[in-house]
Amino acid sequence: MAACSVGLLTRLSLRVQRSQVQRPLRRLLSCPGTVAAGLRREEQSSGSAETGSEDRTPKKRFSEVQNERREQAQRTVLIHCPDKINEKKFLKFLSQHGPINSHFFYESFGLYAAVEFCQKESVTSLQNITRTPSLGPEAAIPFKSRYLNLKLRNSLNQTSELSSIQCSNQSSPSSKKLYQLLCCAESVDDQLNTLLREFQLTEENTRLRYLTCSLIEDVAAAYFPDCAVRPFGSSVNSFGKLGCDLDMFLDLDEIGKFTAQKTSGNFLMEFQVKNVPSERVATQKILSVIGECLDQFGPGCVGVQRILNARCPLVRFSHQASGFQCDLTTNNRIALKSSELLYMYGALDSRVRALVFSVRCWARAHSLTSSIPGAWITNFSLTMMVIFFLQRRSPPILPTLDYLKTLADAEDKCIIEGHNCTFVGDLNRIKPSRNTETLELLLKEFFEYFGNFAFNKNSINIRQGREQNKPESSPLHIQNPFETSLNVSKNVSQSQLQKFVDLARESAWILHQEGKDRPSPSSNQPWGLAALLLPSVANNMSLSKKKKKPASERIKNLLDSIKSSGAENSTATNGRRAISTQA
Ligand code: CTP
Ligand code: MG
Repeated sequence: MAACSVGLLTRLSLRVQRSQVQRPLRRLLSCPGTVAAGLRREEQSSGSAETGSEDRTPKKRFSEVQNERREQAQRTVLIHCPDKINEKKFLKFLSQHGPINSHFFYESFGLYAAVEFCQKESVTSLQNITRTPSLGPEAAIPFKSRYLNLKLRNSLNQTSELSSIQCSNQSSPSSKKLYQLLCCAESVDDQLNTLLREFQLTEENTRLRYLTCSLIEDVAAAYFPDCAVRPFGSSVNSFGKLGCDLDMFLDLDEIGKFTAQKTSGNFLMEFQVKNVPSERVATQKILSVIGECLDQFGPGCVGVQRILNARCPLVRFSHQASGFQCDLTTNNRIALKSSELLYMYGALDSRVRALVFSVRCWARAHSLTSSIPGAWITNFSLTMMVIFFLQRRSPPILPTLDYLKTLADAEDKCIIEGHNCTFVGDLNRIKPSRNTETLELLLKEFFEYFGNFAFNKNSINIRQGREQNKPESSPLHIQNPFETSLNVSKNVSQSQLQKFVDLARESAWILHQEGKDRPSPSSNQPWGLAALLLPSVANNMSLSKKKKKPASERIKNLLDSIKSSGAENSTATNGRRAISTQA
C-alpha cells in the first residue's frame, strides 16, 4: 500500500490497439497489485472487441467480478467539484486520509470526481472532517454519505492555479461521429467491432454504476444493516450501451448470512419479526419504505416513483450525480442469475457482443425499441434472439443452457424459488466453438433467419437451443431461461413484431445487395452497417420501398440467390482462427 502515492499518474490506455480514434484521457492513480489493477487487466481481456484474437487469459467468474467491483466501490467517494480545480492539490488534500488507488473526473451538470482510496478507513477519515452545510433559510437533513461537495475556501487567491480538468466520457458518440467512423471502417466486420467499441460501457462508467449502487446501499442500510445493493441487467451482463439504465437489486439475504452461525445445545434463538401474508407483500412494504427514504433523505436521488403494483415491484428514480436512471427491485434473484448467464454468453465468443450491440443499435435506430415501456421489443428480448440464433449455427457458436447445466459442479448448484438455475460458472471449462463465420455473414443471416421465422407457431428457447411449439398465443414467444412458464416478450404486439420482421427482411436484402457492389469509400455513401443504422437512410428506404417490388417477392428472390451461393458463403472466414468444437 505504501507504493500508492499522489504523483504516480498513469495514463491507462485501455483498448489502445483497438481504435485509431483518440480516446478521452483517463487519469488514474494506481496501487500495483490491488484489485483495481487486476480489474483493469480483466477489463482489457474480457472487454476485448476484436474478433479472431487469441485470448488465453483465464476468464473470471461473474461472482468474482461482482465482489471485486463491489469492494472497490466501498472504498470510493463521489465528489462534486468546482468547475475549475487544481488537480494535484486536490489529490494531495485527499491523500491526507490515506493513499489513493485511482480517480477520474466526469461531467454531469457540473464536474464530479470519483476517488478510490486504497483502504476503507480513508473514507471514514474523510467523512470525519466533512461538515454538514448550513444553508441559510433552508434546513439540511444531516446524512453522512459518501457523496460529497468540495468548496474552495479562498477561491480568489487560487484563481491562477485553477485549471480545466480532462474528463472521462460518459456518453455514446453522436450519429455524425458514428457515421464517420463506420464509413471509414475497412469491412463490415470492422464496422461491427467499431460500434461495439464506441457504445460499450467504459471502465469509468462501469465503476460509476457500482459506486451508485454502493451509495444507495448506504441509504438502504439505515433500515437493513448488512443488506447489499447489486447491479444487474445490462450494467453487468456485458451488453450495456453507454446511457443504459441501472438495474439494482436490494439483496436482503446477506443479512441472514452473518447470523446463521451454527449453535450447539438445547437452545435456539430467533429474531422477533413482523409477518406479512406473502413474499409479494413483503417486497412491496420493503420497497415502499426504501423509496420513501430515497425520496426524503437520499442525496442526489430525484424523481422517485414507487411502482409497487407491477409484476415485479420497483422503485424508479434518477441519480443526479451519475446521471443514471435507476430501477431498484428486491426479491429478484433470478434476474441476477440471468445477468450471469448473459455475461457467460458474452464472454464465450468475441462475436456475440459485437452482434448484439449492432442488433440493439439497429433496433433503436428504427424505433423498434424505446425507453418508454409499451408493446415494443426490449433489448433483453433481442439479446435472447441473438443467443438463440448463434446456438442454431452449424457448428453452433454458443452452447445451449441445458449443455451448460451438464458442465456444472456442486458449487454451481442453484435453486431459486423452486426454479433450477444451475449452470457452470467457470467459463474456462467451456470449449470454444469451431465455427469461423464472419460477423458480416452472421448479421446478414440473423436478419434472414428472423425475417422468415415462424413466429406464429414457434417459441424461442435458449435452454434447448431449438424452436418449440408456442405454449400460448402471444405474437412473440421467448421463453424465460429459468422461469420457463414465463414469456419475456409477452408485451410485444403483432404490429411491432411485423415491423421487426419487415425491417429484418429489408436489412438482409440491403446487406445482400451490398455484398455484390459495395460503394467505394470515396463515394461518401453509407455502406454496410452505416446503411442499416442511419434513420435518414431508413426513411429513404421506406419511401423507395413503395416504388419497389413487395418485400416478400424480393426476399423470395434473395433466398433463391442465396441458396445458389450457399457454398461460397459457408467457407468465408475473414482470417478468423480455427477453434475446436463444443459439444
Ligand atoms: N428481465 C427478465 N425478464 C423480463 C425483463 C427483464 O428476466 N421480461 C431481467 C433480465 O435479466 C434483464 C434485467 O431484468 O437483463 C433488466 O431488464 P431491462 O432493464 O429491461 O433489460 P437490460 O438487459 O438491462 O437492457 P437495457 O439495456 O435495455 O436496460
Ligand atoms: Mg436495464
